[in-house]
Formats: sequence, C-alpha cells, structure tokens
Amino acid sequence: MNLRLQGPALPVIASLLPAVLASNPKGITLQHKVPAGLDRKEAEVYRQFDPERLPRHIAIIMDGNGRWAKRRHMPRVAGHRAGVAAVRSTVETAARIGIHALTLYAFSEENWKKRPASEVDFLMRLLSRYLKAEVPTLNKNNIRLEYIGRQHELPEDVQERMEWARASTAENTGTVLTLALNYSARSELVDAFRSMVRAASENGGIEHLRIDEEMVGEHLYTRNLPDPDLVVRTSGEMRLSNFLLWQLAYAEIYVTPTLWPDFRGVHLLEAIVEYQKRERRYGGLNHAEPAKVRN
Ligand code: FPP
Repeated sequence: MNLRLQGPALPVIASLLPAVLASNPKGITLQHKVPAGLDRKEAEVYRQFDPERLPRHIAIIMDGNGRWAKRRHMPRVAGHRAGVAAVRSTVETAARIGIHALTLYAFSEENWKKRPASEVDFLMRLLSRYLKAEVPTLNKNNIRLEYIGRQHELPEDVQERMEWARASTAENTGTVLTLALNYSARSELVDAFRSMVRAASENGGIEHLRIDEEMVGEHLYTRNLPDPDLVVRTSGEMRLSNFLLWQLAYAEIYVTPTLWPDFRGVHLLEAIVEYQKRERRYGGLNHAEPAKVRN
C-alpha cells in the first residue's frame, strides 16, 4: 500500500518516522516492491501507479507496422518482423506485473481478405516461428496461451503449431495471453448466435432458446475471460477496427502515437498510469460498479 503523508497529520507522522525505523531494523516499506525483471525505466513508471488497481484484462490493437517500415524505406513485412520484439516485451512485462489477461489483435479477418497473399503468407510463417521460439519463455513466465478467431480457416500447419503451443502452456496459471487470429468481432457475434441456437435445439428444442446478455457472453470466444478494462491502440488511429465490440462496451480507450514495432513494456505501464487516472462510471454517475441495466 502506498503511504501518503498529507494534511495536519503530516508533521506528527514525520516526527515518528525515525523512531519507527529504529524499532524496525528492516525499516518500513513506503512503496510496493517493484516486480523482478522490470528494467529501470519500467520500474520508474511502475512506481507511479497503484499495483492493487491494475486492469484485469488489457486488449491491444497492434497497429503501425507498415508505417514503421515505410519510414525506414523497408518492405512492409520488415515492420511485422520488428513487431515481434514489441510483442515479446509487452507480454513479458504484463506477466511480470501480474496482469490477469492480455489479448493481442494479431490478424483480422479483413487482413486475410484485403492484403496481398505474400504478406499474409509472411504473417503466417512469422506467427508459426514466434510460437515455436516463444513457448519456453511463455512457460518460464507462467503464461497460458489461447486464441480467438476462426482458427479452422487458417493453414493446417499453422493450426497444428497453434495447438502444440496451446497444449505446451496449458498448465500455466499466470497471465492468459490470447492471440486474436483471423478474428472479427461481427463474425464472433454471428458464431455466438449460431451456437446459442444449436445449444437450444440440442437441449429440448428451439422453444428453449433464451437470449440475454449473460447468454451471449457465454457463447463468445472470450467466454472464459473477463471483459477488457483497458484497450490500447498504437499508431494514433482512433478506431476499434472490428475488435471485441461486445466486450469493450465499458473499456477505457488509450491511443498512443507510438508505432507497434517501437512499443515496449514501458509503454504498457504508461497506459496503466493513464488508466488509473480515469473515473470509470459504467453509465452511472460516480460509482465504480458496473451499471445494472433496467429493461
Ligand atoms: C498492423 O500493422 C499489424 C498487423 C496486421 C499484424 C500484427 C503482427 C505482428 C505485430 C507481428 C506478429 C505477431 C505475433 C503475435 C507473432 P499494419 O500493417 O496495418 O500497419 P500500417 O497501418 O502502418 O500499414
């Protein structure tokens, strides 16, 4: 807990401090301990927030790889390759500070349809290589890997590698890292409604179909995750781009001009500092409880 010395009590407490320190050979801790593994810059930012009010789930729209490459007169794919270092740093920092869930928008359904086949191929190979190389680090950091999106439409060898990586990290109990691959929020909702209808017809018939917010949530790809508290978008664009449209209903939005390949753990921590300055009202006045929707 951060000890804030303020108001009339300040001189009294300050005068007691030497005695308290003397009576406690280890001294007293005024600030939370910085988690192991953070570098100097990260530790500096970490000290600015309250580790007891971390967002439980952070979602990130990784954008700007192409522009990063263009500025360097390099091909677009060089931006994607450089983006892997940003993924690595962000994931490790999130795990080190104890973020419960991190979801990264790696590849949208629209990317698949609207980008040249060579770029899509490159991204698939990059993902495959990332998974192979990263599993030991994910295990070392106790990170469990999951995916959202229409995985069955991805190349078979990529699906196999994804399944292998998921199984290899399935026992981990720390941060849940979810990669959104071939993902579209509208398709997710379509799949959820289809799944609700199927479940009803397999359980006594369509007349048993119940549709409410809880039921929709239970049929989304993210059914095992809390809704994101914070969504980060890099490269300055102010769009959600068909990402987690249902789940982001009450999320705080943080947009940074930093291009994804330049993003690091320290930038994630800066986003959390900003998040903690926001007052979350869930449609209400000034309380911090999700609003109960009245029908
Ligand atoms: C958006 O940048 C980024 C992507 C479509 C791909 C994201 C991929 C990575 C970060 C690398 C690999 C990821 C994993 C999980 C291994 P853009 O190409 O749309 O950039 P632009 O808007 O500047 O053109």
